[in-house]
Amino acid sequence: MSAEPETGARADRERSYGPDDGILVADDLRKEFGGLVAVDDLSFAVQEQEILGFIGPNGAGKSTTFNCVTGTYPPTDGTVYFKGEDVTGIPAHDMVKEGMSRTFQEFAPLEDRPVVKNVELALAPDELFTLSGMGGETEQLAREICRRVGLGEVMDQTPSELPHAGMLKLELGRAIATQPDVMLVDEPFAGLSADEVQELTEVMESLRQHGMTLIVVDHNMRGLLNLIDRAFVIQFGSKIAEGTPEEITDDPEVQEAYLGGEEI
Ligand SMILES: Nc1ncnc2c1ncn2[C@@H]1O[C@H](COP(=O)(O)OP(=O)(O)O)[C@@H](O)[C@H]1O
Ligand SMILES: [Mg+2]
Repeated sequence: MSAEPETGARADRERSYGPDDGILVADDLRKEFGGLVAVDDLSFAVQEQEILGFIGPNGAGKSTTFNCVTGTYPPTDGTVYFKGEDVTGIPAHDMVKEGMSRTFQEFAPLEDRPVVKNVELALAPDELFTLSGMGGETEQLAREICRRVGLGEVMDQTPSELPHAGMLKLELGRAIATQPDVMLVDEPFAGLSADEVQELTEVMESLRQHGMTLIVVDHNMRGLLNLIDRAFVIQFGSKIAEGTPEEITDDPEVQEAYLGGEEI
């Protein structure tokens, strides 16, 4: 089938995707909880080194979509392709080994260990094995990751000493430690000031420059505008629009979806 990109809203709702349409592809992904359809035959493709914004009102099905993609639980129907392979239903720890990681909105660092140790403990098991016996290499790697996410000055403190923004950076650092090619970032800007949003935006942009593909989940577009290449907007488990941030904010269906008073 044609790999011609279609960016217009609703243009490809009926379209089906194949394994080679992107580094991460969902084709007709569906998740039902009893009678509730949380993800309603959703199809999307993420390109290598892209930063995709995955947006929708609360309850739209964002987390459920990514729980199906990252192997938290299998979809009811549909297919997930990662790096050209069918990975549908593969459990989360195996997806991490394949090169996919994610951050969680609710996470609990080890409070009695320094920040750098929290990152070190998240290093890929293969990496630990390779480096074991090479005195201090794992700690060096963890220190390097801390610097990359802007925790260079505070990596020897405990997590409880970090401000809220520091905690979000730590969660990002822990996800990077598994050496992912694709990273799913869940609401990274929640509760941040404009300056902190800018700082994290730069961190994620630099990860992309180093070859990573990012999908950033958020319930609004504020803050994402300077970061994402493309937005994918869902409501009630279905896509309602896809395009640049500017195209999305002008889309009547998107505005309708947010009439409940939530900010786009
Ligand atoms: N484990 C579950 N069991 C039953 N219903 C669920 C479960 N997880 C999510 N849902 C429902 O699926 C819908 C989508 O939820 P969710 O994916 O968390 O939305 P979002 O992340 O976009 O806010 C909601 O109606 C939610 O109540
Ligand atoms: Mg959610």
